[in-house]
Amino acid sequence: MTVDLQDLERRALEALAAAQNAEALDAWRVAYLGKKGELTLAVRGVGQLPAEERPAYGKVANEVKDRLEAAYSARLEALKQEELERALRAAQVDVTLPGRRPQLGRLHPATQTLRAIYAIFARMGFQVFRSREVETDQYNFELLNMPPHHPARDMWDTFYVNEQVVLRTHTSPGQIHAMRAHCPAPIRVILPGKCYRYEQVTMRHEMQFHQVEGLAVGRNITMADLKGTMVHFARQMFGEERRLRFRCSYFPFTEPSVEVDMDCIMCKGAGCRMCKQTGWLEIAGAGMVHPVVLRNGGYDPAVVAGFAFGMGVERIAILKHGIDDIRYFHGNDLRFVQQFA
Ligand code: DAH
Repeated sequence: MTVDLQDLERRALEALAAAQNAEALDAWRVAYLGKKGELTLAVRGVGQLPAEERPAYGKVANEVKDRLEAAYSARLEALKQEELERALRAAQVDVTLPGRRPQLGRLHPATQTLRAIYAIFARMGFQVFRSREVETDQYNFELLNMPPHHPARDMWDTFYVNEQVVLRTHTSPGQIHAMRAHCPAPIRVILPGKCYRYEQVTMRHEMQFHQVEGLAVGRNITMADLKGTMVHFARQMFGEERRLRFRCSYFPFTEPSVEVDMDCIMCKGAGCRMCKQTGWLEIAGAGMVHPVVLRNGGYDPAVVAGFAFGMGVERIAILKHGIDDIRYFHGNDLRFVQQFA
């Protein structure tokens, strides 16, 4: 049985043009040129022809085969080219598109405030002394002039790790570490860091917050030095026009003790919501270091004196930026922190 070779060629070329990918092309190759492909079978059919027709048929069959093979190679090449072009187009970069802005990290407002505080005290000659967050009861209370069962311990609601170990409720225990590390030299340090209190969390109270403690010990240090230091700090932080007042208070580790108030930055003392109509904002606790504490630090209170203060960093940031809720600081809301570029 012989085949109409012209028809076969026409159909084959049509099918080839329709093959749009490598698989289709391969299927085409098998269908026409493969071992059992149409053309192969057609060539084999030559045996059935009368002897005189065979050469002509064979010649045509071979020509068709050559043409189909050439067409196949060309199509294969064209498909490869198309694919390459498609890939290049997909990978094309439009250099005129606007760039993507990288998300910039930034410092937490508490950290920013801490650093502003460091800078102010650094200019007054205070060095940063780092102290531990997990403290012994001895350092957090006893060495600060609060023996066991001292009623003043109630001023701090304390997280106990065990009977002897606490999360520090204030940065004051760092005073003892700092004094013991520097004694007998004069000392001027600030002690920053996290503190923890077993508090009901509210707009004004958090379980964790930062404090900065200050301590200066040396010959001839007086309450005037404390006042000058606090006034200078407040004016650097909140503006040159600030006025301070020192209110009598009590802390076991200072004598005398004061509460440091600044005139309200919002109403300038007239009375408003921020200062609860008092005209004053409390910014720190302070005092002259108690002789017992000096002695616990290794100093002789007959020879040296010292002043100390402690302030809440979030409190300073709240006043500085007019933040109305301390819970934002650890609330994990990016919208809050992103406001402090
Ligand atoms: N430690 C106190 C507190 O957390 C603050 C304080 C008051 C620190 C007086 C001082 C100081 O160094 O002299 O409430």
